[in-house]
Amino acid sequence: MKVSYIAVVIGLAVQSALAVSKFQPRRTSSMFISPPALPDLPSPQDARTASAGDGLILDDIQSDILIGMRKRTEMFFFFSVDDPTTFKSKLSSDIKSLITNTNQVLSVSTQPITAVNIAFSQTGLNALGVTDDLGDPGFKNGQFAVAAKLGDAGTDNWVPGFKGTNIHGVFLLASDTVDNVNDELANVQNILGSSISEVYRLTGSARPGDQTGHEHFGFMDGISQPAVQGFTRNVLNGQAVVAPGEILVGETGDNVDRPAWAIGGSFLAFRQVQQMVPEFSKFVADNALSVPGLTQQENEDLFGARLFGRWKSGAPIDLAPLHDDIDLAHDINRNNNFTYQHPESAGFDFNTNQTNCPFSAHLRKVRPRADLGDENTGHHIMRSGITYGPEVTDAEASAQQSSTDPDLQRGLAFISYQSNIAQGFEFIQEKWVNNANFIFGKSTPPGVDPIIGRVPNTAAETPRDVSGTDPLDQAKVFSLDVEFVVSRGGEYFFSPPISALSGVLAA
Ligand SMILES: *[C@@H]1O[C@H](CO)[C@@H](O)[C@H](O)[C@H]1NC(C)=O
Ligand SMILES: *[C@@H]1O[C@H](CO)[C@@H](O)[C@H](O)[C@H]1NC(C)=O
Repeated sequence: MKVSYIAVVIGLAVQSALAVSKFQPRRTSSMFISPPALPDLPSPQDARTASAGDGLILDDIQSDILIGMRKRTEMFFFFSVDDPTTFKSKLSSDIKSLITNTNQVLSVSTQPITAVNIAFSQTGLNALGVTDDLGDPGFKNGQFAVAAKLGDAGTDNWVPGFKGTNIHGVFLLASDTVDNVNDELANVQNILGSSISEVYRLTGSARPGDQTGHEHFGFMDGISQPAVQGFTRNVLNGQAVVAPGEILVGETGDNVDRPAWAIGGSFLAFRQVQQMVPEFSKFVADNALSVPGLTQQENEDLFGARLFGRWKSGAPIDLAPLHDDIDLAHDINRNNNFTYQHPESAGFDFNTNQTNCPFSAHLRKVRPRADLGDENTGHHIMRSGITYGPEVTDAEASAQQSSTDPDLQRGLAFISYQSNIAQGFEFIQEKWVNNANFIFGKSTPPGVDPIIGRVPNTAAETPRDVSGTDPLDQAKVFSLDVEFVVSRGGEYFFSPPISALSGVLAA
């Protein structure tokens, strides 16, 4: 009796020591970037209140899903499972405790040195012997099967590892230094040993200095994220409010049947998108507008801004039609204001007038907002990617051409999270971006998205028609004869709730 009492006391003491060390501050500065154009993450208190109201279990939801594009450095380590029995046992015994949940990243004091997330492809679930149907046909078939539907010019440019269905899963390792990420990968590989093998890896980093948070063409990215009920409390002007079930499976607003163990997970669409930066800069310079009163440089910048719908700073051109406006860019309550209404201009009609913002502008094509009347389109995604590759070298800049050196390849490691791949990532790419007639009901068909759009079923470099780029001749159709972005392929994954890592996925 006495002995076991002492054993219990010692046991409790050890447990509480472990608990203390687990929750002790391990960071003195945040692992995330915080560019001025982006709102802060919710405070732990706000997230607690919001999640209690909507029944989200933030401790069980992996950390990457709801936080957006804030990573400073992130590695995507794609693997196949060679020994399912060992893998499943390690998943439950050692890997699960490394996986970072959403609550942990909301405060510096609880952030790990390196956040670790894990997601599985359908062939990965098959390899683990998981037979439950997650209810998503896109996920089930994999991304390689739909390269043509997404508009890719074949799969010659695809990373070899993405061709076929050989990738079973991906680790997402995020931190503020590449060393931290590499250390954590070594730890994971040490735990899993020969039960997995590497198929491919890609390491991304936010761009340096004042370009932090900007994609490689120079434009501020990640501004237009939805506010997810149950997570975000402070909704910004112009921000879409979406039911949690639009992003997380099995939550309110997701009406598909899901296995109980999958609730709180999310489908992750990964795409490696190479960007031809010197070519884009040359194209923009060669096609500078000729708006009176603007310098050559200003006419160049305006042309580029009209292709995106924002200035490089992030300021919406709809509200700043001729000159960039840094205050607007940094004002989180105005930089998402896309009513496209201009009451100060009598008789203004946003179906015929694209003086301020072209109907074809990238941001209008990927998220039409007021153009569709109701923001509740059912096609929202949470974007969580990161830029990869080095800055443009002097040699590339002067040659106005991207190097063919693979180490100098640059672009976006695109990630979107959604509860339905067909309604999220695929719908946006196929039905909006690549559809020359979308946005419907406009006086001039907009053409494809000038940045990421492709004319479906055509070879690379097929000219892409877009209209509205010239404010002085709004019906003019402009032919873009260079592709600035090249798809390197990708895969679809399911980011499970953390509880499943010692449940169904390890059984
Ligand atoms: C949003 O922009 C419109 C013009 O398109 C303007 O009338 C309105 O005042 C703006 N709202 C805010 C909150 O800035
Ligand atoms: C289109 O809008 C601009 C400003 O937003 C305005 O100056 C112009 O008069 C409008 N054009 C027509 C035909 O209404």
